[in-house]
Amino acid sequence: MSVKILVTGAAGFIGFYVAREFCRQGYDVTGLDNLNDYYDPRLKQARLEQLKELGNFTFIKADIADREVMADLFRSQKFSRVIHLAAQAGVRYSLENPMAYADSNLTGMMTVLEGCRQSGVEHLVFASSSSVYGMNSKMPYSVADAVDHPVSLYAATKRSNELMAHSYAQLYQLPVTGLRFFTVCGPWGRPDMALWKFTRAILEGEAIDVFNQGELWRDFTDIDDILKGIMSIQNVIPESMANFRNDSPDKSSAPYRVYNIGNNQPAKLTDFISAIEQSCGVKATKRYQPMQAGDVFKTFADVSGLEEQVGFRPDTPLQETVDKFVHWYKFWSSEH
Ligand SMILES: NC(=O)c1ccc[n+]([C@@H]2O[C@H](COP(=O)([O-])OP(=O)(O)OC[C@H]3O[C@@H](n4cnc5c(N)ncnc54)[C@H](O)[C@@H]3O)[C@@H](O)[C@H]2O)c1
Repeated sequence: MSVKILVTGAAGFIGFYVAREFCRQGYDVTGLDNLNDYYDPRLKQARLEQLKELGNFTFIKADIADREVMADLFRSQKFSRVIHLAAQAGVRYSLENPMAYADSNLTGMMTVLEGCRQSGVEHLVFASSSSVYGMNSKMPYSVADAVDHPVSLYAATKRSNELMAHSYAQLYQLPVTGLRFFTVCGPWGRPDMALWKFTRAILEGEAIDVFNQGELWRDFTDIDDILKGIMSIQNVIPESMANFRNDSPDKSSAPYRVYNIGNNQPAKLTDFISAIEQSCGVKATKRYQPMQAGDVFKTFADVSGLEEQVGFRPDTPLQETVDKFVHWYKFWSSEH
């Protein structure tokens, strides 16, 4: 019998790569997405078209906040693994439309957890975010650090997801892994993210907004590194720790783990812009702006947990990631 995988958010940026890789490896993949219009749904459709060309892919258009639909799906399908990536993403949009985060990130996480527990899923892997580190100033960010001071509602929902997942892991011995992604970049990326916005503006001769006078640092992480991390870690099923000690770095005996996946080499915003200028062969016109509400100054991942567990750490040079994106973007924008 073939192994069944559910990828939520399969029409999204990261979900598309994950679903495609599982299909390539011969799994029976169900991709679920509500195809909402937070950004241009044509991009989601185009990713789906690619997935549909792979024989072992089934698409379900549904909302993860729909309790009945989700319960029926888990009852009827018996998934072995679930990679839960559907969410309302974006830090800034959480100031504008907070309820979208409550529906997709809180209720949606609950339906996934319930479905996994009711149907005995062997491993749930879900997307958390570097934004959970909020006001922390200790660098690099470690999963052993306390993360109690989010600066956006988005971050608060992602931190809540980790706590909800931990409770299910402990109560029902459901193996769960949370992955804190750090600014993911690459072809098929999101139009609301800086790489897309800057590339578009630079190529079209428009000015770009540079927040906090460019004094921001991000651990930009290549999508291929994120994919490698997800595919490796989904094979490492957390176990409960019978001999758990209170001073253990995991701080819990439950079958629950959390990892950072970041490049471990933060780049300054102005260097990021220079990399885009180099790829585009055009100089940017910069409009300096103050710090934005909800933003953090720096993200910097300690990836020792990932490295110890699967022997891998993201290491793609930023210029290479930017070049891949700009190359793809030129093709995409010429067709749309
Ligand atoms: N891209 C990044 O830099 C980054 C960083 C940290 C965390 N994350 C997290 O990784 C995950 C994937 O992010 P992404 O960049 O691919 O975002 P994305 O927006 O491209 O993908 C999310 C997908 O989920 C779908 N979706 C949203 N709400 C839904 C709902 N209620 N029901 C069904 N489908 C729904 C969307 O239509 C979208 O296709 C998200 O959980 C995000 O919060 C991403």
